[in-house]
Amino acid sequence: MFEATKSEIINSLKNISHKHFNTNLLTLNSIKKFEINNSTLDLEISVNSKDISEIKNLMKDRLKKDFAELKKINLTIASKSSSISAHKDAKKDSIMPGVKNTIAVASGKGGVGKSTVAVNLAVALAKDGARVGLIDADIYGPSVPLMLGSIDKPKVYQHENSVKIIPLESYEVKFISIGSLIDDKAPVIWRGPMVSGAIKQFMTDVDWGELDYLIFDLPPGTGDIQLTLVQTIPLTGAVIVTTPQEVSLIDARKALAMFTRVNVPVLGIIENMSYFIAPDTGKKYDIFGSGGGEKISKELKTPFLGGIPIDPRIREGGDNGLPMVFGIPDANETEILMEISRKLTEQVNIRNSTPSEKIEILLGDDD
Ligand SMILES: Nc1ncnc2c1ncn2[C@@H]1O[C@H](COP(=O)(O)OP(=O)(O)OP(=O)(O)O)[C@@H](O)[C@H]1O
Ligand SMILES: [Mg+2]
Repeated sequence: MFEATKSEIINSLKNISHKHFNTNLLTLNSIKKFEINNSTLDLEISVNSKDISEIKNLMKDRLKKDFAELKKINLTIASKSSSISAHKDAKKDSIMPGVKNTIAVASGKGGVGKSTVAVNLAVALAKDGARVGLIDADIYGPSVPLMLGSIDKPKVYQHENSVKIIPLESYEVKFISIGSLIDDKAPVIWRGPMVSGAIKQFMTDVDWGELDYLIFDLPPGTGDIQLTLVQTIPLTGAVIVTTPQEVSLIDARKALAMFTRVNVPVLGIIENMSYFIAPDTGKKYDIFGSGGGEKISKELKTPFLGGIPIDPRIREGGDNGLPMVFGIPDANETEILMEISRKLTEQVNIRNSTPSEKIEILLGDDD
């Protein structure tokens, strides 16, 4: 006679090993249905992975091995992707029909860590089982290929009368960057129209396929690229990265005002370089001040998604092309970044289920 508890089942499944499956995410909450009748197990489980069918087979084999009395398993897998809401918009669908949500990572001030945050968020979302793409919209200063450890060039193919670009992929994130298309010694001397052309091409000519989130790593400020982006595609929303100090907050306000003016919802504020914990003494230093991100999010009635400390490993992860959330999965900072990515997905869901008139009231009028 077969008997087992939910936790015995989870513990058994945690022994599966597959490169697209993070067993740490398996918890009792992953079980959606659990019934045992006449040595038959009816199990429905929610899983974050792209290789659902392979994972399903591995799970079945594992359970059969671990529970000899088990005669039959009816296993249903609910994938993460199916529960991710989509931003419904006719114009977006005409340009990128397979992409559910588009999110810009922006800042007013340069060097606050947008690219670092964008890359780590993208990898964090992918680790949680979402299908993720990343557009490096910083045409003059692309940093995504370096941060994702890629020196490859994307392949192209002819489709009807146009050329399609196949995005590159690192750590389960599909991406495109001008840095992967041009020689890194060649100066980027492109002017306005060519720059906006490149941004548009990244949306229209890249074969993104089906994505839950397409993230844009923007250059600093509120210039041509930002404008082209918001005019080309109705974004699901923008995330604003700031450091805690006043000069950065002033620019964050400007960035927020710009997005609000062009009707792009701001999904939240992320404070980067929030503090530094000395590894030898454990003492906390507020290098750029403290509380700025939370202050500005209250002032601007925008959700605060979290604060990321200064950590040399975050910088190294960027320089070495191995994002912290992937390279050091057990670090506290990784947990912070994962948590921010989950808060962001909550905000996306709220936006997607809120009628746009309500959002405008929520944001208030900045005139
Ligand atoms: N939390 C952090 N801890 C340590 N180093 C960080 C952190 N965030 C960013 N950095 C480092 O700070 C530098 C600037 O970061 P990044 O390039 O991501 O900023 P940016 O806002 O994208 O810059 P730009 O405006 O030039 O595009 C990089 O060297 C990066 O590795
Ligand atoms: Mg950048």
